[in-house]
Amino acid sequence: MSRSVSGGSARPFYGDFGWAYDQVVATPEGSWVAEACAALDSVGIGLGAKLLDAGCGTGRYAAAFHARGYDVDLVDGSPELLSQAVERLPGADAQVADLRELNLGRRYDGIVCRGVLNDLIRDEDRQAVLDNFAAHVRTGGAVVLDVRDQDGSERRYRDNFRLEKVIDTPRGTLTFRADGRFEHGLLYIHEQHELRAASGPPRLAVYDFTMRPWTHAELDERVRLAGFQVQRIADLNDRGSDDRLLCLAILSDVPG
Ligand SMILES: C[S@@+](CC[C@H](N)C(=O)[O-])C[C@H]1O[C@@H](n2cnc3c(N)ncnc32)[C@H](O)[C@@H]1O
Repeated sequence: MSRSVSGGSARPFYGDFGWAYDQVVATPEGSWVAEACAALDSVGIGLGAKLLDAGCGTGRYAAAFHARGYDVDLVDGSPELLSQAVERLPGADAQVADLRELNLGRRYDGIVCRGVLNDLIRDEDRQAVLDNFAAHVRTGGAVVLDVRDQDGSERRYRDNFRLEKVIDTPRGTLTFRADGRFEHGLLYIHEQHELRAASGPPRLAVYDFTMRPWTHAELDERVRLAGFQVQRIADLNDRGSDDRLLCLAILSDVPG
């Protein structure tokens, strides 16, 4: 696993407390893997195809794609999360890389990318990642993207929201809190991890950050601008929520 390129794990959720990610986000599969597989299949990318899970995190979904018969490579900006993905899929090629500067030197049958593109705030970063995806897909290959939908996010989060979880972990009792609000197309989130071990002082990490959900129109425009043909953008009704979009797009021509 290369660690030569830095990614963004300043957020404790992806960094210092990345070891607890799977316990804090305790929802393994939902409908994402089934819907992404159906989407890939609909454009002729079947089992055995070579996929890149871009922003794979701890690799739970990558492992599910692998279990269904795909050959999955891993890339993520967080070494802490990627190392857990590597434990799940020890045979996979795994790289720590910033998707804004992705240069793996190979093309895939498909790229799957779930819950990642909302972390990119600036227009140029959003476009750069999609451009890089186009540079890593073969002719006839596809991307399947899951993003937060702006309208759905507004409906879900327009009243200030608060989440609190208290979890027993091997390292002690972890209290995770997230407070947020949706304003002018952005989700502003204040996140706190507090770990109390049997001995020693509690460890506290506090972090403020912003997420930017996507409109249907922006997703359509940027994916096309990157050189893909959009096949469909649809609501992904994952675990009953209505704030996610799934985009399937194919690359009909690799630019010469
Ligand atoms: C919400 S997590 C989702 C992880 C995984 N796809 C899942 O659904 O469980 C977002 C992931 O995107 C990664 N990420 C965000 N921005 C990135 C970037 N610019 N380059 C590489 N990885 C990035 C984070 O490190 C994190 O693993």
